[in-house]
Amino acid sequence: MTLSWMAASRCSASVKVAPATTLLDLLRHDLALTGTKKGCDHDQCDACTVLIDGQRINSCLQLAVMQDGKAITTIKGLSQDSALHPLQAAFVERNALQCSYCTPGQICSGVALIEEGRATTREEIREHMTGNICHCGAYPNIVDAIEDVLVQRGQLMKEAA
Ligand code: FES
Repeated sequence: MTLSWMAASRCSASVKVAPATTLLDLLRHDLALTGTKKGCDHDQCDACTVLIDGQRINSCLQLAVMQDGKAITTIKGLSQDSALHPLQAAFVERNALQCSYCTPGQICSGVALIEEGRATTREEIREHMTGNICHCGAYPNIVDAIEDVLVQRGQLMKEAA
């Protein structure tokens, strides 16, 4: 299969993969793109979220062979020319993490949510990010970071504290 993925540098490659290999295992084990995390490995935590053609998808649920020809963006592909994606920068600014294990999935989901344009309030941010589990409980800061980017982009008015 041909898998186009965006990692530290934009690239496209052909890889041989066993039919039962999940996209998550292909990314982490075969391609050494370990920024994408394995939590539950069965659709319960969203730690493994990546973008497939811009849509957030749990990579542990996807067979790699089904992604033939699609653009796959992992957390490493979000930064460009060493510049962090605005949401990555907002996570740093807002200290939106503790142990950081869930952070790649949180950021990939947040980036997709911002592009979807479906969140117009903090409550909607929380609602659309509910699948992404953070065992440390950094949720308020995660919502702050996403809200900051939505405000920067004029997609959301800052709510009064
Ligand atoms: Fe995929 Fe938990 S590792 S949802």
